[in-house]
Amino acid sequence: MTPKPAGRLSDGWHPVARSTDLDRPCPAILSGQQLVVFRITGGEVCVLPDRCLHRGGSLRRGAVVGDAIECPYHGWRWRGTDGRCVASPGVSTRTTGTLAAKPAVDRYGLIWTSLGETPAEVPDLPGLGQGRSYATYEPVDIHCEARPVVTTTRTDRGRLIQFYSPVRQGVWRVFSVTVTEQVG
Ligand code: FES
Repeated sequence: MTPKPAGRLSDGWHPVARSTDLDRPCPAILSGQQLVVFRITGGEVCVLPDRCLHRGGSLRRGAVVGDAIECPYHGWRWRGTDGRCVASPGVSTRTTGTLAAKPAVDRYGLIWTSLGETPAEVPDLPGLGQGRSYATYEPVDIHCEARPVVTTTRTDRGRLIQFYSPVRQGVWRVFSVTVTEQVG
């Protein structure tokens, strides 16, 4: 049997924020790329590069306006789902360019994204849906050259699952989820 090639890290899905963090745009860094994670008015989550194409302003300090994030510097607005510029005061949006929007999924209390063009599925955690509840904890960074793997541990509070998201070379951000049985 021919061994399957190892998946590229960039094609995988990685958590970059907790769902509860998105009451305002949230900065994230994944494999050295600065990102901004936000929830648009309809409830959908979006991930864009954290760099406005006008003069490089950071969007993390911007505001969500409808389905877009508004740059705090000169008011250009970038649609979350596809990165299109939808407002640019004094300039035609035909000339403003488009940010490279990333896929985004809200699952298990975490926001997941991928830097690959054809990402595989978001990790499936059997039993994490019906009949279970979960709590997510503050992410922490660890230093580790080798690629850690997802770990699951039984604790007295439930099943602890830890995901490792690559921040940059040698640094991984650990997102922890505790899964418990729902009562009633
Ligand atoms: S830097 Fe973003 S609108 Fe000018």
